[in-house]
Amino acid sequence: MKKTVSFLVSGRGSNFNAVANAIIEGDIPATVGIVISDKQGVKALDIARQLSIPAFFVNPREYPARQDHEKAIIELLRKYETDLVVTAGYMRLLTPYFVNAFKNRIINIHPALLPSFPGTHAQKQALEYGVKISGCTTHFIDEGTDSGPIIMQKAVPVYDDDTQDTLSARILKEEHQILIESVKLFCLDKLIVKERKVFVVR
Ligand code: GAR
Repeated sequence: MKKTVSFLVSGRGSNFNAVANAIIEGDIPATVGIVISDKQGVKALDIARQLSIPAFFVNPREYPARQDHEKAIIELLRKYETDLVVTAGYMRLLTPYFVNAFKNRIINIHPALLPSFPGTHAQKQALEYGVKISGCTTHFIDEGTDSGPIIMQKAVPVYDDDTQDTLSARILKEEHQILIESVKLFCLDKLIVKERKVFVVR
């Protein structure tokens, strides 16, 4: 039985686009569910509509508390029988309430080699720190900030003349690759989570 993959986004949507295309082209054995944004009018929602994927803006301001906003999102995800949630540039922290609703079924892409540089502006943090290598990480979301079990990582060099834009672009290419591969492994039931470690079944 194919799994249904849905996406939480906040902006440009290039990671969502890469994974959705991989599913549509048959490189990942899955079905695309829905796309939900916490921001109105973002490019990710346009891409979803172009691909005929149901796309929703769930406005956080319409809910009294974070958990109420998350409840509305969870209801939509369940209505479309979501097996896996991919947070692809979703810039809002998920509460334990949401994390428990999809335990070990939320994959996040982060633009740094975790546990270095969690949170926002990871590429800027890496440049300011002066690291010579950075990269990206896919992980299952747990109750902390970018602290969940790591699925895959890819390193890229950091050059002396890098700007946030040049480093981000170098990392983004790799983000798309490891996110596609991680989602694929999940959909093939090849990821096993034991405490904070993820093992790939060969
Ligand atoms: C990506 O670089 C992603 O790793 C990052 O936001 C960007 C979204 O781009 N996520 C975070 O920083 C999460 N803390 P996209 O909308 O084109 O996929």
